[in-house]
Amino acid sequence: MIPRRRVLAGLASLPFASTALSKAAMAFSDGAPRLLGTCVRIEQLEREPQLADCLLSQFGSITPEIHLKWNSVENREGQFWFEPVDRLVTFAGKHDLRLHGHTLLWEQGTPDWALHAISHDKDWGLVERHIERVMSRYRDVIRDWDVVNEPIDTQNGRDGLRRNTFQKTFGSDYIARALQAAHHTAPNARLLLNEYGFEYDNYIEVARRAALLKLLEKLLVAGVPLHGVGIQAHLDLGKGPIPQRDVGKFLQDIADMGLAILVTELDVKERDYRATLAERDARVSDEVRRYLEVALAQPAVESVTTWGISDRLSWLQVEPGDRVDPNRFGPAAPNRGLPFDGDLQPKAMHTALLDALQAR
Ligand code: G3I
Repeated sequence: MIPRRRVLAGLASLPFASTALSKAAMAFSDGAPRLLGTCVRIEQLEREPQLADCLLSQFGSITPEIHLKWNSVENREGQFWFEPVDRLVTFAGKHDLRLHGHTLLWEQGTPDWALHAISHDKDWGLVERHIERVMSRYRDVIRDWDVVNEPIDTQNGRDGLRRNTFQKTFGSDYIARALQAAHHTAPNARLLLNEYGFEYDNYIEVARRAALLKLLEKLLVAGVPLHGVGIQAHLDLGKGPIPQRDVGKFLQDIADMGLAILVTELDVKERDYRATLAERDARVSDEVRRYLEVALAQPAVESVTTWGISDRLSWLQVEPGDRVDPNRFGPAAPNRGLPFDGDLQPKAMHTALLDALQAR
């Protein structure tokens, strides 16, 4: 295990001042602020002033939902499109919001031309140049970076790691190499792995928790620059009760390695849409309370970011197999797993979030 002190000592010298936040965006744990963040798309904020107002009154940190991914910044080889992120940076600066860097390396967020070139040429330089290009542009305004997104796969992976193009081409070492490239480009940045699927008591998530811990330990023992973990926390009402003891132990194991923990993509997938809205909202908020009760009991958990503000704009949708009453529920009606409804009215989940942040 890497002593927590050693990592923290490194972080203390970071040049980033803490962002001034609106009262609602902060809660306190032993005097230390815990941030509430959300993912955003700049064009939505520009189009909907009410959405921007809602964001500014409630959140202190923003994550680009899409526009920092490789397939957005360089969808065609050599043609760069930083404009939406630049606009987001201006917005964040104007309103004193913190920005979270999501994400440098994710197969699903990589353009086809790059995946093809990587498999064909086996040239690590291509990956390295991408990391350098994106990070160097934003290293003065973004401290925390999801360097590698979703590297774990215990079902179809190898040794717990996803068999993606990077792993197949460069071996499992690609994770360490990406972190090293990021550290080289932005020595003051905090570098994270960001991952989902750790919240429930089923054999897959039990194995995923173990696989992540194994990966973290391996990287830290090898001296790879890694400072934290993004726990996505896409909760799911179809997966049974959250095993709080197991989740608490998992977070403690990460904390014992000296790593920071950020809850990066909190939302709740419903499975049964037949109840009244009030009942559905109560189920969603109860799930959030159960999760945050254990997550925020862990002092290493620094922040909670929801994967969106309003149900209307959520990536979560009704899926085949979900229980839907066709008389009460049209196909376009959204999942209700975010703090605000489609009209930007706060729901029970909003109260659950603020209660949980303030209670700690
Ligand atoms: O902008 C195009 C639009 O022009 C086109 O008409 C439309 C047709 O499908 O696609 C639009 O792009 C989509 C984009 O969202 C904007 O709606 C992409 O196809 C779609 O892939 C993209 O999905 C995003 C996904 O990441 C992939 O980047 C989701 O919004 C976003 O919520 C999701 O976020 C991920 C995190 O990054 C990682 N963790 C899981 C999380 C949820 O999948």
